[in-house]
Amino acid sequence: MINTPFPRLDLDSGAVRKQLLSLCRLERGQIWQDPEGRHVVGCGDAGDAGFIKKIFKGVKPPALAVFDPPYNLAVFERQTVNEYIEWCRRWVDSCYRLLNDNAAFYVWLGADQKEHFQPLPQFMMMMAASGFKARSFITMRNQRGYGTQKNWMAIRQELLYYVKGEPIFNVQYTDIPKILRGYYKEVNGHVTENMERSHSPNIRPGNVWVDIQQVFYRMEENVNGCYAQKPLKAIERIIMASSSEGDTVTDFFAHSGTTLLACEQTNRKCVTFDIDPVFAEITIRRLEHYRMTGKTGWQNSHPFEQELEKKEADTVT
Ligand SMILES: C[S@@+](CC[C@H](N)C(=O)[O-])C[C@H]1O[C@@H](n2cnc3c(N)ncnc32)[C@H](O)[C@@H]1O
Repeated sequence: MINTPFPRLDLDSGAVRKQLLSLCRLERGQIWQDPEGRHVVGCGDAGDAGFIKKIFKGVKPPALAVFDPPYNLAVFERQTVNEYIEWCRRWVDSCYRLLNDNAAFYVWLGADQKEHFQPLPQFMMMMAASGFKARSFITMRNQRGYGTQKNWMAIRQELLYYVKGEPIFNVQYTDIPKILRGYYKEVNGHVTENMERSHSPNIRPGNVWVDIQQVFYRMEENVNGCYAQKPLKAIERIIMASSSEGDTVTDFFAHSGTTLLACEQTNRKCVTFDIDPVFAEITIRRLEHYRMTGKTGWQNSHPFEQELEKKEADTVT
């Protein structure tokens, strides 16, 4: 079984990447329109306001933005935290301007525990002056983490939730049944128990999500070569809570196309892009693959399987 037929595509500067680039439909600044007329995928820079204007031309203003920017500062090798935050401010401002008057904004962000948790506090302070209002600070628990015997294992992913205006919020439920009874309260003269009063037999996710499996190679949704894929279930939860069918949802950091696919599955329109043509192409291919096969990823293969089939066979044998 081929588990990871690809290297990490962002770091690979060799033959594989060169070959993939020749298979990409988009170059920097270009846009792909979904032949089914629903979504838009681009290859561009989140910090480029001109590109953002171009990709949103004629699009209904988004009701929701879900962003997962690179927060490993190694990506920005020579950047200081301040430079990173200035870069963030540019795409946050662009996003604020283009969103609907009542919209939600979610952003995943890491915190480096060896460097005073940067860039999380600096990012939060920048957001305080952005026009968005803070609503929640969510933590999603990963199954795998990193750590030593001398520290708590790092298994958390931070997700910040902000709003512009007063967007909708649809309460969500997990698959976890409520097991605790009690919390008696009198309603219309009857003493009721919490199970009787509840809207669902399952618990709400709250702001600590422990019920979402981190993507790994054995899962159908896995996209080999993508090093930072978010689980579909997490993005779907955000979309269901903070948008309605037919709404536009945007993501400036497409990568494996998780937001696009979750929009396809929940009848939203997605406008998304990535600075890297390879990830823009993977995003388009993931949608096409889903429409053709009903599969959400490439468990034991990869998005360029057909073109690279021969080369791959040579490598494996
Ligand atoms: C953490 S990943 C996003 C993962 C995504 N949520 C998913 O589930 O697949 C960040 C992505 O941002 C892209 N990126 C980095 N700098 C960018 C920029 N200036 N503009 C747009 N995309 C950028 C990277 O190429 C990478 O694919």
